[in-house]
Amino acid sequence: MPAATTTPFRCPACREPLALVAGGAEPRCARCERPAGTADGILDLVTDPALRGEADHFDAEYAGVRIGDPADPDALGQLWTSYPNAPFNRALLQRIGDVEDATVVLLGNGTLVKELHLLTRRPRALVFSDLSVAAMRAVRDHVAAADREQVLHFAAIDAQQLPFADASVDVVYGYAFVHHLPDVDRFLAEVARVLAPGGRAVFMDNAMAPLWQAAKVRVLRPLMDLAHRRNPISQEDLRVTLEGGFGVEDFAARIRAVGGEPFFERSGFVHYLATRASDIFLSPDSRARLSRRRWERRGGGWRLVVPHGRLLRTLQRIDDRLTRVPLVERNQMRLVWGFVRA
Ligand SMILES: C[S@@+](CC[C@H](N)C(=O)[O-])C[C@H]1O[C@@H](n2cnc3c(N)ncnc32)[C@H](O)[C@@H]1O
Ligand SMILES: [Zn+2]
Repeated sequence: MPAATTTPFRCPACREPLALVAGGAEPRCARCERPAGTADGILDLVTDPALRGEADHFDAEYAGVRIGDPADPDALGQLWTSYPNAPFNRALLQRIGDVEDATVVLLGNGTLVKELHLLTRRPRALVFSDLSVAAMRAVRDHVAAADREQVLHFAAIDAQQLPFADASVDVVYGYAFVHHLPDVDRFLAEVARVLAPGGRAVFMDNAMAPLWQAAKVRVLRPLMDLAHRRNPISQEDLRVTLEGGFGVEDFAARIRAVGGEPFFERSGFVHYLATRASDIFLSPDSRARLSRRRWERRGGGWRLVVPHGRLLRTLQRIDDRLTRVPLVERNQMRLVWGFVRA
C-alpha cells in the first residue's frame, strides 16, 4: 500500500477510516483508491446526487469570495465576545465549551472564519465543512498560514450523511444553516450517531416567534415581499421564513428521540426587528454600511472596528432589558440551540 496521511473522516466509498495517498494534489483513498476530492486538493465527501443542485447554487455564490476577516485565531475572538451585531455569539462560545484535545466538526460553515478562534482552545482536530467545495477552497486558501499544527481539515460534507465513525466527534456546530436541510430528523440522527457520549451539538438559527409569525402572514406580508425583492433570499430560506422558524417544544421532542438532552437560549427581539426593518427600508448600500466592520493593525495583532458599534450596542442593551417582558421573551427570534449526547 502507498504511504498515506490519516484524516478524521471515513471514506464514503469503502467506509473505512480515510487515509489519503501521499503525493499528488488530487486526494485519493489509500485503501480503495477512489478519488475523494478535487484536482486542487479539496476533499469532497458528498455522495447524494440529489444535493447537486443545492451544491451548485452555493458554489456559484461562494466562487471568488474575498474573506474580510484576518486568519489570526486570537484576533477572531473579538467576533465572538465583543462584536455588537451578534449578541448570540457569546452564548454559542459558552455552549461549545472546553475543546482541548477534542474533535470539533463545523457543518454548513460557508466562508466563515471566526471559528478559527477555537484553535486557541487547543482541539485535536478542527474540521471546516460545507456542502460547497468553493466555500472550502476559499477558506482553505485564506487560512493556509494558520495551520501550523495539522489540526485543521477542510471538506465538502453533506450534514445529513456525516463521513465520521460512530461516537468519534466531541462537538458538532452549525451557524445559520440547519434550516437549509430538507430532512432535519435524518440530520439530528446523524449528529447523535457521530457524537461521543457527553458530546455537544451547538447551533444558531431562528426560533418560532408567534407574534412575528402572525404579523408576517397577515399585515407584514406585503412588506416582506418588498424586502425579498430588494434582498433576494434562497427558496429554502423563504420556505422556513414562511413556516416560522424552529418551534422549541417540537425540536425538544425530536432531539430526545435521537438520544440527546436539548437546550435552547433565545435572544434578540429588537435585534431582529432592526434587521428586518433595515431589509425593508434601507438600500443594500446603507444596509452594508450599518453592519460594516474593519480590522486595523494594532501592535502585533488586529483590532476590530465597528463604525456603528454604539448604535448596535444600544439596541442590544434595550434587548437585554426587554427580555424580562413575557411577550418579548416568547418572541425573541435568535435561537442558540442544540443538545448534549446521553
Ligand atoms: C445561510 S448559509 C450559512 C453559511 C454560514 N454558516 C454563515 O453563517 O455564513 C447556509 C449554508 O448551508 C450549506 N448547506 C446547504 N445544504 C447543506 C447540506 N446538506 N450539508 C451541509 N451544508 C449545507 C450551504 O452551502 C450554505 O453555505
Ligand atoms: Zn475508500
